Amino acid sequence: MRRPLVVGNWKMHGTRAATKGLIEGIKRGLDSVGRAELAVCPPLVYVPDVAVLLQGTPLGWGAQNLCDHDVGAYTGEVSGPMLVDFYCKYVIVGHSERRALYGEGDALVARKFAAARRAGLIPILCVGECLEEREQGRTENVVARQLEAVLDLEGVAAFANAVVAYEPVWAIGTGKTATPQQAQQVHTFIRGKIGAQDGTIAERLRILYGGSVKGSNAEQLFHEPDIDGGLIGGASLNAEEFLTIAAAAE
Ligand code: PGA
Repeated sequence: MRRPLVVGNWKMHGTRAATKGLIEGIKRGLDSVGRAELAVCPPLVYVPDVAVLLQGTPLGWGAQNLCDHDVGAYTGEVSGPMLVDFYCKYVIVGHSERRALYGEGDALVARKFAAARRAGLIPILCVGECLEEREQGRTENVVARQLEAVLDLEGVAAFANAVVAYEPVWAIGTGKTATPQQAQQVHTFIRGKIGAQDGTIAERLRILYGGSVKGSNAEQLFHEPDIDGGLIGGASLNAEEFLTIAAAAE
């Protein structure tokens, strides 16, 4: 049985004070969460604060991005080993905002996935099609290409300690959620793609859904057999809403 995972992606939101308030709100409600594992990915500068606030709690934390190199002259970048210094467990790689707004292509995303693993972090690899690609019936081609870039560089064994997040771009921050059936279909495809190379790894792989998950639609989505939790953007900025979503992941 795969343990559900619910991860908050705070993106570039909040202040130092608001971050503290949000963490405290989540901590207060942790008893209401059942079986799911929880983690938050705050803006990078707040990671050290979050590490202190969450130390000794069952809530994990991570970063939203990392450099594909471990050390060197890469102005403005942060490496995997630096994230490990602050006890990050997870790191998001290839989020669609990084791909679309910062020009991260499949090859760079694959190298970031590799960098995360080298450092001992668990990468959360985001994949997903944009609206035009869905309308052209190319969803599976796009997701396959995004997965293959990582499979080719790192091999299927790398997925034994990784998470995949299916995030249809048209559903991110738009209030338009994929239907549970639409999401399940792509999750099945992803598991099948990994399973074609290693059935055991595919069976154990957690595949999260992301894209306008809310307290009101989480249960239906998480009910699908291949949806193992969620990557939550906007709704993770509210402690109560985030906890409601987490409690729906049974
Ligand atoms: P959203 O974002 O929940 O605000 O749609 C999800 C994500 O980008 O990870």
